[in-house]
Amino acid sequence: MSDSGKYSAVKVTQVWRWTDHLFSFRTERPDWFRFQAGQFARLGLAEVEDAPPSVWRAYSIVSGPYDDFLEYYSIVVPDGAFTSRLKDLQPGGTLFMERQNHGFLTLERFALQGDLFLLASGTGLAPYLSILADPLTWDSFDRIVLVHSVRLQNELAYREHIESLAENELFKDNAHKLIYLPTVTREPSGYLNARIPQLIQTGELEQKSNTPLSKERSKFMLCGNPEMVQETRIALKEKGFVSARSSRPGEIATENYW
Ligand SMILES: Cc1cc2nc3c(=O)[nH]c(=O)nc-3n(C[C@H](O)[C@H](O)[C@H](O)COP(=O)(O)OP(=O)(O)OC[C@H]3O[C@@H](n4cnc5c(N)ncnc54)[C@H](O)[C@@H]3O)c2cc1C
Ligand SMILES: NC(=O)c1ccc[n+]([C@@H]2O[C@H](COP(=O)([O-])OP(=O)(O)OC[C@H]3O[C@@H](n4cnc5c(N)ncnc54)[C@H](OP(=O)(O)O)[C@@H]3O)[C@@H](O)[C@H]2O)c1
Repeated sequence: MSDSGKYSAVKVTQVWRWTDHLFSFRTERPDWFRFQAGQFARLGLAEVEDAPPSVWRAYSIVSGPYDDFLEYYSIVVPDGAFTSRLKDLQPGGTLFMERQNHGFLTLERFALQGDLFLLASGTGLAPYLSILADPLTWDSFDRIVLVHSVRLQNELAYREHIESLAENELFKDNAHKLIYLPTVTREPSGYLNARIPQLIQTGELEQKSNTPLSKERSKFMLCGNPEMVQETRIALKEKGFVSARSSRPGEIATENYW
């Protein structure tokens, strides 16, 4: 079964690996699928060929809203119901995706001015790659500070892509706005080496990004490990920032991956 009113089958077009437990893949983009940068898709896998999908998971979309493909960045969880099958994906293989887009980790959450802090642990980097592919981001903010916290240096997936955005024709007039701060927490490296909440508490985030935190200017997105999200939210709360809700403006938007 390839399609229903709710979902459709899509072909995988590319797969590449960053480490033994991290990989990325692309699928074709159905022309009916629209999304905003920062949103996620729900992807399904079938147990056997020609069967309907039996396991579904949320996946942030890495590619930009104007790209003609869909890209994703994935962990492999040992014995994970979804990723232990997903990891064997090959180009030409089939995935399922819900027709509906999802998620609120989007620029709509904030007034579009000031400085945007994109704070990620692990694969929580994914939605920010889409947000950085959207010209609206570069046009709207004065500074865009991207912090990617990983255990080991070889988990800094997309590092070269991020560093090359400065030369991208679309963004290069605004290249000075992006400050990319990897942090590697479990081995020595030339990068920062503290967890995100500590970077906030010690003032290292402001100092290394040369961007003061201010209630008037700063907006924060937090994505990935729920404990990181929670502890970062507390560190920001101590500085006077609050979550943005539909009922109340604020400076923090979050997404937990589990
Ligand atoms: C809104 C949303 C967006 C998401 N986007 C992504 C994404 O872009 N890329 C991605 O890899 N995952 C993403 N996830 C997680 C994803 O949905 C699955 O949990 C993941 O694919 C593992 O599936 P599984 O069945 O193998 O293991 P699960 O049974 O789903 O998870 C088992 C355990 O593995 C750990 N785990 C799960 N996901 C991750 C992860 N991403 N990084 C580190 N540890 C993890 C947790 O401890 C979890 O309890 C997202 C989750 C949500 C809610
Ligand atoms: N198969 C393998 O070889 C392999 C290798 C690595 C990971 N894994 C597995 O993959 C899973 C996910 O690993 P991951 O590295 O993507 O995710 P992770 O554990 O969330 O770590 C990613 C980053 O988030 C930081 N972090 C974790 N908890 C935090 C908190 N409470 N507050 C602030 N920052 C926090 C980590 O710092 P710290 O380093 O200080 O925790 C690290 O910098 C784990 O279950 C792990 O066992 C497998």
